[in-house]
Amino acid sequence: MKNIVILISGRGSNMQAIVNTAIPNAKVVAVLSNNPNAAGLAWAAEHGIATAALNHKDFANRMDFDRAMMQLIDEYAPDLVVLAGFMRILTPEFCAHYENRCINIHPSLLPSFTGLHTHQRALDEGCRISGCTIHFVTEVLDNGAIIAQGVVPILDNDTADDIATRVLKVEHQLLPQAVADFISGNLKIVGKRVIKSNQVDDSVTLLA
Ligand code: GRF
Repeated sequence: MKNIVILISGRGSNMQAIVNTAIPNAKVVAVLSNNPNAAGLAWAAEHGIATAALNHKDFANRMDFDRAMMQLIDEYAPDLVVLAGFMRILTPEFCAHYENRCINIHPSLLPSFTGLHTHQRALDEGCRISGCTIHFVTEVLDNGAIIAQGVVPILDNDTADDIATRVLKVEHQLLPQAVADFISGNLKIVGKRVIKSNQVDDSVTLLA
């Protein structure tokens, strides 16, 4: 059995999607947050999962917070750490500690639109498609090897919220699948590429 620790900062719908997917050989052993009021913590606790919060505002600097968070995470001996809406920039030390065993979900088609306000920026640039990316975490923000990407159309009358809603549905499919692929050993990192033993066939075309 492989241990999964999930980090959240808010609602936690992606965390719920992972928990609600019966991933073979995997157990979500803890849901942790930098935000004591994160709604997802209550949901996880109701589902019998260990929860804890470390408020980043209680720490003098980013390094102190990350070190405390690493200590907390490591109490659960994770094979995989999933950042599921964890809204913190991580120190190089944190990223190195979980190298190749920490993944993040980002609501854009990376490498476009790293950082915040991704859907508004895609709209402002006139993009016809948007989506989400699951990637390994490195010290460069939203830049590690890409595991999976999901694509949605951007329609003429869309607001950023409309796109976020459409992308979120895809996130809920893509993230549990990526976690399952990691757990089953389907992912091999070769430089910046992730080689998958179950990739889609080349007849798939996405048009928008
Ligand atoms: C998701 O859109 C995720 O891609 C982004 O933050 C949002 C978190 O949503 N990083 P939730 O907390 O999983 O509902």
